[in-house]
Amino acid sequence: MNTKIKIALGADHAGYEYKDRLISELTSKGFECVDCGTNGPKSVDYPVYASKVCELVRSGECKFGILVCGTGIGMSIAANKHRGIRAALCNEAGSTEMTRRHNDSNVLCLGARMITFEKALELTNIFLSTEFEGGRHERRIEMLDKLL
Ligand code: RB5
Repeated sequence: MNTKIKIALGADHAGYEYKDRLISELTSKGFECVDCGTNGPKSVDYPVYASKVCELVRSGECKFGILVCGTGIGMSIAANKHRGIRAALCNEAGSTEMTRRHNDSNVLCLGARMITFEKALELTNIFLSTEFEGGRHERRIEMLDKLL
């Protein structure tokens, strides 16, 4: 039986190098990574890659998604248009931890032009290792799905 946690990763041309490096790091830690592209510097449209990742998370094929663009903003806007996706754009540790604990976020968005790779890796590790608290937050999450 495959018990590895599966993560979908996607990026545009501004984020693919971070995405590739995150895949290496996560794979070496025992995660199974699904690379949704893009895979080179040619200019592409971030909503395409956000949708690929979000579909894998929505279907249950992957537990989490990670999206990287220049700022992380375009990816987060695109991802949050998918029902069942709770995408958080994170630039620092505190909100990365809280969005898992309170929002049960299932997609992490990162801005490769805004933070160092070391910070992106730190936030990824926090995101993947922090549990949802449940309780009163469950009700709020159910309300989010009704907004779409
Ligand atoms: C691409 O130049 C850039 O606009 C994109 O990576 C992202 O930052 C959009 O939000």
